[in-house]
Amino acid sequence: MEHTDTTMSSIHPPEYYRNEVYSLTKLPTVPAIAMEILRVTREDNLSVSQMIPIIERDPPLALKILKIANSAYYGLRNRVETLRHAIVVIGMEELSHLVLSFTVLKLLLSRDIGDQWLEWNKLWEHSAACGHIAQLLNKRLRLSVPSSPYSLGLLHDVGKLVLYRIDPEKYTKAVKLAEKDKLTSYDAEMEVFGVTHADAGRWLAEKWELPEAIINAIGFHHKPELVSNPKYEVSTALIQISDLVCNFKSIRFGTGFVQSIPREEEGWKILQKENEKLRDMDFERFVLEIDDDIETIQKMVELAQL
Ligand SMILES: [Fe+2]
Ligand SMILES: [Fe+2]
Repeated sequence: MEHTDTTMSSIHPPEYYRNEVYSLTKLPTVPAIAMEILRVTREDNLSVSQMIPIIERDPPLALKILKIANSAYYGLRNRVETLRHAIVVIGMEELSHLVLSFTVLKLLLSRDIGDQWLEWNKLWEHSAACGHIAQLLNKRLRLSVPSSPYSLGLLHDVGKLVLYRIDPEKYTKAVKLAEKDKLTSYDAEMEVFGVTHADAGRWLAEKWELPEAIINAIGFHHKPELVSNPKYEVSTALIQISDLVCNFKSIRFGTGFVQSIPREEEGWKILQKENEKLRDMDFERFVLEIDDDIETIQKMVELAQL
């Protein structure tokens, strides 16, 4: 009988996948608008008037920003009618990261992704929920996160799309293996690819020169203790814990067999070092309270997809 299980036999070395990502042959380049927003954000004296003309060149994007500013997310009483007002409400840096995250996710999740079986829609939901929870926890714990936690959450699992685009067949195999053997997607990918979505996502983020906080959150959200620059330790740990909370709430994509509890994770220790109050926090209650936010999360997912 023919041997059909090629899981282990066709494994490439990690360099193979890194080169696949770096060469961008199967992956898109960053859209010009995202590049430009990134460039402007890097400049010190970033001004609203510099940002407006860039966004205005992309009317659907401008509209989306207005909708976000008017969403329950920012809970404003008065309607935001202009881009200038929207930027003031959202904040320059957060806005630039939001635009970047939406653009990147939308680009990689575009219709040609195919394979409905994988339910990519759930990845939107999972990513938006993770961002939202990160934002809530960040506020609750008064952490010093150098970037908008929402955008870190939005992009943390982008590597799943990268792996899929490089080898859809193998990626599907990893998802099926995870389901069958009740593995985390991280472990299943390791078995099938020899690298994980964290690696693949980090390589793409490096290649695209995304902000460091984003590169770290993508690359190390499963192992925040490996972050080499202490500046990004807390934000990455925050994403690990938010990701686990999502899995607890069953807002997951592919797999998310909960095999660990947040309190036992390295990320928890890192956050606790940052804020001792974490010890007294009623975490279970926090997880329960998130139910009240599900509608807001869902609305943001719809907005992001527009
Ligand atoms: Fe992940
Ligand atoms: Fe995740």
